[in-house]
Amino acid sequence: PSIRATDICSIKAVADESAKLSAIPATYNSLTDPRQRQVSDELTAQIPVIDFSLLLSDDPQLHAKAVQHLAKACEEWGFFMVINHGIPVSLIDDVISLSQKFHNLSDEDKAEFTDKGVSTPIRCGTSFSPKSEDVHYWRDYLKVITHPHWAFPHKPQGFNDEAKEYCRETRKVARKLLEGISESLDLEPEAIAKATGFDTGHQVFIANLYPPCPRPELALGMPPHSDHGFLALLIQNDIGGLQISHKGNWVNVEPLPNSILVNTADQLEVASNGKYRSVLHRAVVNKKETRISVVTVNGPDLEKEVRPMPELMEREEAVFRGMKFKEYYELQQKNRLDGKTCMDHIR
Ligand code: SIN
Ligand code: FE2
Repeated sequence: PSIRATDICSIKAVADESAKLSAIPATYNSLTDPRQRQVSDELTAQIPVIDFSLLLSDDPQLHAKAVQHLAKACEEWGFFMVINHGIPVSLIDDVISLSQKFHNLSDEDKAEFTDKGVSTPIRCGTSFSPKSEDVHYWRDYLKVITHPHWAFPHKPQGFNDEAKEYCRETRKVARKLLEGISESLDLEPEAIAKATGFDTGHQVFIANLYPPCPRPELALGMPPHSDHGFLALLIQNDIGGLQISHKGNWVNVEPLPNSILVNTADQLEVASNGKYRSVLHRAVVNKKETRISVVTVNGPDLEKEVRPMPELMEREEAVFRGMKFKEYYELQQKNRLDGKTCMDHIR
């Protein structure tokens, strides 16, 4: 049977029905080419690790070491795991379990948040770009714009407080990482944050739920894409599913305990003039367990134009044109076509 993701508000009914039939609706069949199923497991162990405590260190040598590690991670992978980030494990656990509780609310309870477009502060729905896609994805999402203005669902109880606290903490970590990344480009630590209005910048909180799928070799939780903004920080329950693209291979991410997974995003590619490319990533699903991931995407001020950093332009030609972040964000959220094609609009 064929199903349109815009006709349903959550994947739950599809997942329950599919479990009974041991089959999924044809519209969820996205891994049609067997090459898309190939994964390189040897590379998993090589994913870079960044020790956040070194970045904060007063010892200039230790700090410089962390900056070097960041440069290498951004240049070669666009992805790294951050350890010793200082965000309490209990907060992380709470945010994950409250996110799961939100998704488990009844359709009625969630109805007021049904996705009504990209600038709505709270929106939930299913799949990836339900309005524009033909193939659907095995995922429910909740997206909350948390900065510069707060808005959070008031249910389940405690969600608002814990998630806000988590968002504040991740913004601080993202700010410090951005400073280190700025230094790694031979810029002042504050340079990128200042030029793009990071402190009045945009942050989105995204809670994803991927239920068990009877045919994980056919469906994806999320198609290959890059993120808007500078840095996306991800936590998950203990179930894997994130894959990153590295030198043409899909690589499984197996996070170190208590680490935060970070990927570099489109506006960092622009600001660095293409030196630090935003990484393509996707989510796979599994037969047995429900996976939850929670992402905060930390970006520029919506009203600021983002362009390659002027200091870099003294030595090289700009490969991107400037675009107001708000315009880029809306474009990227509305036509999420394939991989990184949105960046073609500013090249
Ligand atoms: C994302 O790309 O936003 C999340 C992917 C994941 O759930 O691992
Ligand atoms: Fe993403």
